[in-house]
Amino acid sequence: MLRNINESGSGLQRPGSLAAKDARHVLHPWADLSALGTQKSLIVCEAHGVEVMDSAGKTYLDAIGGMWCVTVGYGRQELIDAMQAQARKLPYFTPFGDVSSEPAAELAALLATLSPGDLNRVHFTTCGSTAVDSAVRIAHYYFGSRGRPEKHHVLSRVNAYHGSTYLAASLSGKVADRTHFRYESEWVHHLESPAFDPDSSPVSAAERLDHLIEDMETVIAGIGPENVACFIAEPVLASGGVLIPPPGYHEATMDICRRHEILYICDEVVCGFGRLGHFFASEARFGIVPDMLVTAKGLTSGYQPLGAVLISDRIADAMARAADPAKPVFSNGFTYSGHPVACATAIANIDVMRRDDICGHVRDVGPYFVERLRELRASPIVDAVRGDHLMACVECHVPGEFGPTARNQALAGRVDAYCESSGLLVRPYENLCIMSPPLIITKSEIDRIADIVADSLARAERDLRA
Ligand SMILES: Cc1ncc(COP(=O)(O)O)c(C=O)c1O
Repeated sequence: MLRNINESGSGLQRPGSLAAKDARHVLHPWADLSALGTQKSLIVCEAHGVEVMDSAGKTYLDAIGGMWCVTVGYGRQELIDAMQAQARKLPYFTPFGDVSSEPAAELAALLATLSPGDLNRVHFTTCGSTAVDSAVRIAHYYFGSRGRPEKHHVLSRVNAYHGSTYLAASLSGKVADRTHFRYESEWVHHLESPAFDPDSSPVSAAERLDHLIEDMETVIAGIGPENVACFIAEPVLASGGVLIPPPGYHEATMDICRRHEILYICDEVVCGFGRLGHFFASEARFGIVPDMLVTAKGLTSGYQPLGAVLISDRIADAMARAADPAKPVFSNGFTYSGHPVACATAIANIDVMRRDDICGHVRDVGPYFVERLRELRASPIVDAVRGDHLMACVECHVPGEFGPTARNQALAGRVDAYCESSGLLVRPYENLCIMSPPLIITKSEIDRIADIVADSLARAERDLRA
């Protein structure tokens, strides 16, 4: 996951045989292929609370939260006990057709109580990508089964990230991720990125909103609203660089969807489960109740792979009513959909989150996290700092040079490497240092993060001047 950085002074000494086995045999997600076979992977062996330890015994404060997902921290006995107990009782059985498991049924009922509106029907999957895929397929099924198969086009956005299956990758709109794979382009359309940064925007929030709405209306008119099935959107774009739309954007896009009978799929894989201070952000933070809501990651605090699509009763009931008597099967699902051990872990995770009022804690420390990071804008090599509660990013640049240029990326890589050598893991992406710490992070740990990033920026700036 980390960049392969060999700068002197980075302190990265990857020890012996594990690193060698990894270099020889593993093809990592998002691997830098130019380093395949020589990658120097950080092999993480243990973790506790907000810290992880590598195979050489060095500890790091994990400001990535695993990968946006470890929310209640590492080593939570309640989650470990739930995993063990469920594995002992029933490690697996098919979820297909009319077979279920105790944890899947319990968790679905629990999610229905936590979710907004009438999102009471849960389709479990294995991760975020398969949940995104499934949500779009449900939109297709919904219109197709009601005699409207032409209403199948999908709207996404530039800079979105929705996952890595063929369809989820096609929905994603990060230019740098488009490589030699193939992507669906006939019926997937990307609206403009909704990013609005009040620090640097040449236009007001209201002007930006008007522009984005016009863009959406124009794209829909071009395709024909009768041909558009759904719109998929992260409330705050996470991997795209913690991009925050202007105020009113969520309600306005929802309004357009309602007018054109376009289903609204909210991708809360990152924003849900407490990261923005609520179990679900759609209604609590942005005032909308989507037709479908996708969740994963923090659902199990990363302890088990699990994803889910929460579906409005209105949509699920309409699909059931329209079922073709000759072919009534909802042919979507995976061997490990709603795995019993994963569902049991999610239930324990929700119990811990409720008992410890993790969402309340995020609402308390989240603004402090953003405030401390925004102090870093004083550094001449920081172009922008954006954040919302416990998701944030620092954008690095060589003064006068903007965007993910090679020099800006190298500079950010240097900052990441200095952070790592000082015992802090931040997530490098292009010229960004992305941070999403476990939700149990304290204010003093936030201070530690801000101080290390500040020091790393100062060191990288000195290198630049030299
Ligand atoms: C917003 C969003 N949606 C979907 C996904 C895909 O989730 P997964 O990697 O679990 O397939 C991600 C992953 O980072 C994500 O950030």
